[in-house]
Formats: sequence, C-alpha cells, structure tokens
Amino acid sequence: RGGKEDSRGALVVLEGLDRCGKTTQSIRLVANLEKLGHSAELWRFPDRTTSVGQMISSYLSNKSQLDDHTIHLLFSANRWEKRSLMESKLKSGITLVVDRYSYSGVAFSSAKGLDIEWCKAPEIGLLAPDLVVCLDIPPEKAAERGGYGGERYEQLEFQKKVGQNYQVLRGPTWKIIDACLPMEDVEEQLQEMVLDCVKTCQEGKPLSCLWS
Ligand code: TMP
Repeated sequence: RGGKEDSRGALVVLEGLDRCGKTTQSIRLVANLEKLGHSAELWRFPDRTTSVGQMISSYLSNKSQLDDHTIHLLFSANRWEKRSLMESKLKSGITLVVDRYSYSGVAFSSAKGLDIEWCKAPEIGLLAPDLVVCLDIPPEKAAERGGYGGERYEQLEFQKKVGQNYQVLRGPTWKIIDACLPMEDVEEQLQEMVLDCVKTCQEGKPLSCLWS
C-alpha cells in the first residue's frame, strides 16, 4: 500500500463545452506542473494525427459525412489506439493532462439522440481518469466567446444538449470549476485540484478502468 514501486502519474481529464477554455487551461496546467518539478504531458482527443484521427477531422470540418454510430465508434477507436501508450506513460510516472475524453464521446453522440448506454459500451475498458475537471459555462456565454469556429458541433442548440448530458455523466471523480471566473482564478483552482490528485497517484493509488 503506497509503496514507491506503485508510484505513477495521474490521469487528469478536462471536459466542457466548446469554447469553455479547456485548451488554454490545459496548456497552462502542464506548464505549471513542470515548473513545480512534475513530469507532465498534454494530450487531446480527438488525436487528429493518426489515420483514424484524420477521418474524424475530415468529418468535423464537414468534408465528409458519416453515420452517427460510425463516427461515435471512430472517436472511441481513437482512444483505444492510444490506450497502451497512455498506460505506459502513467506507469513511468508521467502525469497526463487530457483535453477531452470518453465523456465528450458520450455527451456529444447522445446529444444526437443515440442511446447513452450504447454510447458508453465501446468505452468500457479504457483507463479511468483519476480526476475529471469540468469547466462549467452556460452555453450562451460560450457562444459569445469569439464565436464558434464553424466545426460541425459548434451550434448553440446542440451545445445545450451536450451540457445536459455532461450533468448526467457527473460521477465521484468529477470536480466543477466556474469557467466564467477570471482565467487566473480558474488556473489556480485547477492546479490545486490536480496537485492533490497527483499526490495520491504518487502514493500508489491503483489504475482502474471505465466505466466506473
Ligand atoms: P476539439 O475542438 O476539442 O478538437 O473537439 C472536436 C469536437 O469533437 C468537439 O466538438 C467535441 C467533439 N468530440 C466528440 O464528439 N466525441 C469525442 O469523443 C471527442 C473526444 C470529441
């Protein structure tokens, strides 16, 4: 229990609606962790660099059309193709800050009307995050922020449904930060939560799998 040999990095996931500030905050968080002497990497899903990721990217920019179930499974496959690397990085002591994960997968696809349990099924067995931080923002506020970039899901009515689905998914590893606070305040709250989590993983908290 808590032996040094069980020490590992933390799997930290940031979730939230489009334009909630996740990407900015995840970049800052990794920089701050490194400044404090922790090894940390920034990951994001979809990972558009793989061949599956390129199919997703083309779909998101409306360059291709796919059935709703098919694109859901591609998002999931994109996480599965990274699972073993994720596990080895964590075991080598690197903390991973992940910009979107399975919760985006389920919240976005079920906002199209797909059954939520069906959406969760292909995510079962992926690594479970140690901490999920949701940057909470009213959909109307998010829409005002510099406008949406024109990708497929960046529409107010759709984002409202996604927000409702996030609420359904909230579990015991979830923490909420008010994304309307000044950026520095969000950054500070986030760092405090994550440092706590990094500590418990260093002390040997075992890795677990979704969906739990
Ligand atoms: P991004 O803007 O963070 O790169 O995400 C692209 C879009 O893809 C965003 O609207 C959320 C959506 N998405 C899904 O629909 N399913 C998923 O599994 C993930 C990771 C993202």
